Amino acid sequence: MSILVLGGAGYIGSHMVDRLVEKGEEKVVVVDSLVTGHRAAVHPDAIFYQGDLADQDFMRNVFTENPDIDAVIHFAAYSLVAESMEKPLKYFDNNTAGMVKLLEVMNEFGVKYIVFSSTAATYGLPDEIPIKETTPQRPINPYGESKLMMETIMKWSDQAYGIKFVPLRYFNVAGAKPDGSIGEDHGPETHLLPIILQVAQGVREKIMIFGNDYNTPDGTNVRDYVHPFDLADAHLLAVKYLREGNPSTAFNLGSSTGFSNLQILEAARKVTGKEIPAELADRRPGDPDTLIASSDKAREVLGWKPQFDDIEKIIASAWAWHSSHPNGYDDRG
Ligand code: UFG
Repeated sequence: MSILVLGGAGYIGSHMVDRLVEKGEEKVVVVDSLVTGHRAAVHPDAIFYQGDLADQDFMRNVFTENPDIDAVIHFAAYSLVAESMEKPLKYFDNNTAGMVKLLEVMNEFGVKYIVFSSTAATYGLPDEIPIKETTPQRPINPYGESKLMMETIMKWSDQAYGIKFVPLRYFNVAGAKPDGSIGEDHGPETHLLPIILQVAQGVREKIMIFGNDYNTPDGTNVRDYVHPFDLADAHLLAVKYLREGNPSTAFNLGSSTGFSNLQILEAARKVTGKEIPAELADRRPGDPDTLIASSDKAREVLGWKPQFDDIEKIIASAWAWHSSHPNGYDDRG
């Protein structure tokens, strides 16, 4: 058996590929367009194809050359909330329409299992905290909507073609492989922890904290942080779950603990020993007060046990990457 990882050169996908190759149990095939991913992030022992998953002839070739692929893990999507507000069609085209193209080819080749990166952004402004899988999904931005549509498309493809699927709804992903060899490198960077660590490195002057008048204990947004290795383990468990013949179902993936933006800043100061200048700025549009997952279902049904259950451990792993790669993968030419 082989697993196909789509988006395996991206931040989370590269950690998935690393985990799979290190386990050594099956062949790992990677597809990435390298539009946002990095070739250097892909483990050298994985089989790599550069191309777009919406290019059906390209994908037919990947499945023809690797007839033992029975499961697809799909990370390849655009994921910036603010960009999606300005360019919604880019998100519906790449993320949502891309899913249709992918499922058509999977169906043609009889590939029956897909585990897919969904997001807490599908819940919008949630009715309840912690957020359960049954909490109503009402996205408030095109990014979350594009992912919810992908979930819906998979539901009907399951019914019609028997393609079984597991959407994993991630909360805020942070951290890197603890040896610092792979990590997060977005251009431009918009996420809280990498920006804080760039300030610690001296690459940026200060971090702007967006809003301190939210309905939270210290007024800044509260988020639930999960490490990419723990996500990778959940994907592997989800593939196993599908291969065992279980029905399609979604899982939330978070630590079930919330940290405010100021708590993350303080923890980063402690881990790095750096001052990290910060300044208060206006709210960023579209940020919900608090997002915390209930991950009970993943723990109970999949047997998921996150290893990075301590925020300082997550930050220390991210710092190992950032402090050894001040310019990321340095492949922007
Ligand atoms: N923030 C700042 N300053 C910055 C950057 C971010 O204060 O320079 C704040 C944001 O306002 C927010 C928090 O830090 O309150 C986290 O913001 P991120 O941009 O790091 O992450 P988001 O919560 O916006 O989004 C992430 C993923 C989404 C996913 C979501 C689910 O990028 O894809 O988590 O929780 F949908």
